[in-house]
Amino acid sequence: MAKLKYLGHSCFTIETNGTDLIIDPFLTGNPLAGAKASDIKADYILVTHGHGDHFGDTIEIAKNNDAAVIGPNEICVFCQGKNVKAHNMHIGGSWKFPFGKVKLTIAHHGFSSGENGIDIGGNPCGFILEIEGKKIYHAGDTGLFMDMKLIGEEGIDLALLPIGDNFTMGIDDAVRAVEFIHPGKVVPMHYNTFDLIKVDVDEFRKKVKGAECVVMAVGDTMDI
Ligand code: NI
Ligand code: MN
Repeated sequence: MAKLKYLGHSCFTIETNGTDLIIDPFLTGNPLAGAKASDIKADYILVTHGHGDHFGDTIEIAKNNDAAVIGPNEICVFCQGKNVKAHNMHIGGSWKFPFGKVKLTIAHHGFSSGENGIDIGGNPCGFILEIEGKKIYHAGDTGLFMDMKLIGEEGIDLALLPIGDNFTMGIDDAVRAVEFIHPGKVVPMHYNTFDLIKVDVDEFRKKVKGAECVVMAVGDTMDI
């Protein structure tokens, strides 16, 4: 059984059959982070987009672990320029890795830098991961979009959705996203890290219909 752990903001680790994944490793600079970048064990680092609160410690973790980055082409090219291994992908594409399948989805958002002063540009994404027979959707940073219905048609067991508003969906749109995706479980993310994205997560929990809402505290784990 794969194990999901929440490290704060949009950062999760997944351990599956001895392989360690980390998604959007924003740890340094996050006052609520559940781990230090230097303590992270990872074989793969999945990055949805180049904003600092997602790209985060990608380079340090990759170098410490000889881990490979998976994400949109532009981010991967940037990492390869830093002598970090990467598997370049793009929206709509999927690839079968030794640990499972990864598919990139659209995300309505933007980005222009992966590191202060270095412009890498590109399109943000979400991920659909197929691991041990379960499908996990990490939405990245996005507003609500109708094509979440297409993502739902894939049969999502677990959806990780931003609810913090201002930069992404807020609570009401995230509730509508759950209706579009109809996952078995939904975990809220990308809230309360900064003042601009402070929301009442209990309001989300109460409003969600048709899925089990699991509010993970930083450091919490869940069997997938
Ligand atoms: Ni962003
Ligand atoms: Mn963000």
